[in-house]
Amino acid sequence: MKVVVLAGGLSPEREVSLSSGSKIANALMEKGYEVLLLDLYLGIKDVTNIDSLFRKMEDQNPYQYQVPKEEPNLTKLKEDSGNGGILIGENVLLLCQYADKVFLALHGSIGENGQLQAMFDIYGISYTGSGYIGSLLAMDKGLSKVIMQKHGIETPDYIVADLTEEQELEKTLMLPCVIKPLSCGSSVGVSIVRSQEELGKALDYAKKYENKVLIEELIVGREFSVGILNHHALPLIEIIPKTGFYDYTNKYQAGMATEVCPAQLEDEISIKMQEAALKVHEVLQLGFYSRVDFLLKEDGSFYCLEANTLPGMTPTSLLPQEAAAIGISYSKLCELILLG
Ligand code: DAL
Ligand code: MG
Repeated sequence: MKVVVLAGGLSPEREVSLSSGSKIANALMEKGYEVLLLDLYLGIKDVTNIDSLFRKMEDQNPYQYQVPKEEPNLTKLKEDSGNGGILIGENVLLLCQYADKVFLALHGSIGENGQLQAMFDIYGISYTGSGYIGSLLAMDKGLSKVIMQKHGIETPDYIVADLTEEQELEKTLMLPCVIKPLSCGSSVGVSIVRSQEELGKALDYAKKYENKVLIEELIVGREFSVGILNHHALPLIEIIPKTGFYDYTNKYQAGMATEVCPAQLEDEISIKMQEAALKVHEVLQLGFYSRVDFLLKEDGSFYCLEANTLPGMTPTSLLPQEAAAIGISYSKLCELILLG
């Protein structure tokens, strides 16, 4: 079976995706699949011998990629590749049609928000994960919250603001709060705001990524995540950053956060959180897998932040740790997602 592992692209999570993608590609080769790790944005110029582009484990070194500490300079990448305003690189569609299945290792932007999924549906290309509707609903944190609230799932209070419009945010703001670009991932552009003075900087930072922002009530508590695999909840994982919150650096630099899985929590709350995660997964119409994030207050109440349709698969990511807790190895997890 020939598999294209699609990664990279031009999203702010490009580097994270390349890390996920290279690890997934190696794991699938280990399982005997013929694999091509393909950068959505850069594509491949020469496809005169397509078969030779697909690698097998025995004749190649593993792919390697580590998330740099710094966020990527996407402008420079665009200039270097000379790819103008086009978001999909040369021959990407051809190679995806040639493969038996595309494993989406993309994070953020068109790879995760449903646009690519919709296009693949039109071209009849088979891919992993959620379809375009679920991807769209989960990627937009405001839309997700509307649906979660409609189904009785607790989520922190929020406002969605369009920063291109004149709005007197100071008057409506609840402090402390969290400011997030409306549809990014990996905590890019996210700040905790505790005073009016910090607001301007936080909005500017979020605006670097997106004009629409989510202004969310800050819930002080413990952070958990629940993976969903084949419509079953995996054991909870607790995330304990060494300092600050679980931001981009703490997520992807090894040793910056401790993860405990299965989380040490009363059974009653764990089960309720797993049930809530499954419900979020279903009401957002997600596919074979996802990862749903929560905050737990001291009084036992918990709040869903969001669902991730293409959760990180990097060496420090959470879903693989949750799968490992029930005996599913990284390569088995990739195979399940591939065939799911
Ligand atoms: N957006 C990142 C990759 C995650 O949810 O794990
Ligand atoms: Mg996310």
